[in-house]
Amino acid sequence: MSPLFIVFEGIDGSGKSTQARMFHAYLRSLHMDPVLLMEPSPGEWGKKIRTLLSGSVVPPVEEMLELFLRDREDDSRRNIIPALDSKKSVVMDRYFHSNAAYQGAMGLEADRILSENRRRSFPEPDRVYFIDVPPVTALRRISERNKGEHRDIFEKRAFLEKVREIFLAMADDSFLIIDGEKPEHEIHTMIIEDFQNRFDIFA
Ligand code: ADP
Ligand code: TYD
Repeated sequence: MSPLFIVFEGIDGSGKSTQARMFHAYLRSLHMDPVLLMEPSPGEWGKKIRTLLSGSVVPPVEEMLELFLRDREDDSRRNIIPALDSKKSVVMDRYFHSNAAYQGAMGLEADRILSENRRRSFPEPDRVYFIDVPPVTALRRISERNKGEHRDIFEKRAFLEKVREIFLAMADDSFLIIDGEKPEHEIHTMIIEDFQNRFDIFA
């Protein structure tokens, strides 16, 4: 079977990292030797981005766009493309739709951001699982996860509402929108059912 590129998206606190990890474990159980990656990546640009996000000042949006694009260039060249070339499936926790939704919510045009990404020929996802939750739920989960401590600059209700709207407006045939308020295992089962129906994994 050809390697697949599966992306998990959602607002902060939606539960997408939990689902990406569960899905990665599922692919391993099929002996597929998958790779689990995330953006911002753990590389040089991703580290810079995380430092900025945990600060108190929101950097200019064009600067943020540039940093995320550099991080994605680096991640795709060093991790995503080599994995797919060596026939490993890739499970991604955030990818370029996050770029359009977040930097779109910061004021840029989401379509322009999608075009900037596609112009760079980053691999296209085979499927995007969008874990959809209202910001109130997401923010409650974040404070429980962080034990009420520091929040990143994007973790504000009105902002996340905008991010969610842009994600939903971008959803094309590659997206499956999933109710993220369901229990973790129910969400996982829905994802696996979709995956098995859509891809001939035992071919
Ligand atoms: P994200 O990567 O979208 O920020 P996480 O996967 O880290 O979200 O989940 C945020 C918090 O919510 C974690 O503490 C996680 O255990 C919890 N969580 C994840 N999925 C669910 C769910 N379906 N129902 C309730 N809590 C969840
Ligand atoms: P992440 O660590 O996935 O956050 P969380 O686990 O809380 O969901 O991502 C960090 C932040 O980076 C998140 O608020 C979304 C933002 N982001 C962008 O603004 N643009 C992008 O292109 C990407 C990949 C992430």
